[in-house]
Amino acid sequence: MLILGIETSCDETSAAVVESGYHVQSCVIASSRQAFERSGGVIPEQAAREQMRAIHPVIDQALAEAGATPTDLDAIAVTRGPGLLGSLLVGTVTARTLASLWKKPLIGVHHTLGHLSSPWLDLREEPSFPLLTLSASGGHTELWLRTAPVHARLLGSTRDDAAGEAFDKGACMLGLPYPGGPAIAKAAESGNPLAYPFPHPLSKEETLDFSYSGLKTSLRYLIRDLEIEQMAVNSEQSTVVCHLAASYQHALCLHLTSRIVHALKRNPEVREIHCVGGVSANLHLRSLLKDVCGGRIVRVPQKILYCTDNAAMIAAAGTLLLQEHGGAACGPFCTAASIPASEIFALTGTPAQ
Ligand code: KG4
Ligand code: ZN
Repeated sequence: MLILGIETSCDETSAAVVESGYHVQSCVIASSRQAFERSGGVIPEQAAREQMRAIHPVIDQALAEAGATPTDLDAIAVTRGPGLLGSLLVGTVTARTLASLWKKPLIGVHHTLGHLSSPWLDLREEPSFPLLTLSASGGHTELWLRTAPVHARLLGSTRDDAAGEAFDKGACMLGLPYPGGPAIAKAAESGNPLAYPFPHPLSKEETLDFSYSGLKTSLRYLIRDLEIEQMAVNSEQSTVVCHLAASYQHALCLHLTSRIVHALKRNPEVREIHCVGGVSANLHLRSLLKDVCGGRIVRVPQKILYCTDNAAMIAAAGTLLLQEHGGAACGPFCTAASIPASEIFALTGTPAQ
């Protein structure tokens, strides 16, 4: 089964050709991120305009790199949401048009199900269920208990900011560029993770939810209380900034793994731990995950480019949905910007609880 995936939920324009859900034949990503380094975040209208220019060349390149023609395709999978409305429209309108022109089935994929499918890419063996998936990106932070590729129960989610958002906002406070995750990780390489104390959010509650607003506020107060002159003009080389970045990163990652520790106590039958989404690219998080997995297999996407937004994961999710539902997976899908988490698995008939 050969699927063309299309992803345009934020500032990336991506197209990929994936065979049988696992084998990535091509994955092309055009990003307008550089344009947003100064603003510290994405400007939605500008992102959509860039995507309108990029979408067809990116799809052409993905087909060419895979050595495929439209006739070879079995279906098209496209991110239906959530994301920036204008950006989603560019992807979904293009996908609808191509599907009707080429007479191919069209599958609308929830962006989170795309991330949840990313560990399947380039994989040789089937993951073992049940498994826990921590999905942490700029838009969401969730913990799922999965009994099959597209059957899952939501165990916890963030009550305020997403983990990636906490990285992005923290970087902004430290004078580091956008996106904040990679910038903080780089500065943290020369810092001490225990240099500054941070609180442990929700540690007194019996919950698997996440909360980042307290950690963010702690960073703000630490910066305020430190000598401002110490924050060198070139933030990336300042020792104080490196220590702050390392300590803040450690606190954000510890909060993520603390939820996994609790979830494993409640669900000892779990056989694998998956970590997906932009934040799963973080090497410090990956090493902390190994410490808490209790000997279980830990899977992260095989390539860093599969952690952040990409169309290969959307094609993989489209294949998993097709395998589960056949033609029913190609039913009506909506282009709304905001789709509640409870609808992620709606197509499976097993709504999240
Ligand atoms: O999944 P993604 O590409 O887009 C969304 O769906 O949001 O995730 C982007 C987020 C950004 O907040 C970015 O700062 C974060 O992932 N990120 C990282 C790293 N690389 C990207 N966070 C921590 N460490 C990284 N190495
Ligand atoms: Zn994403």
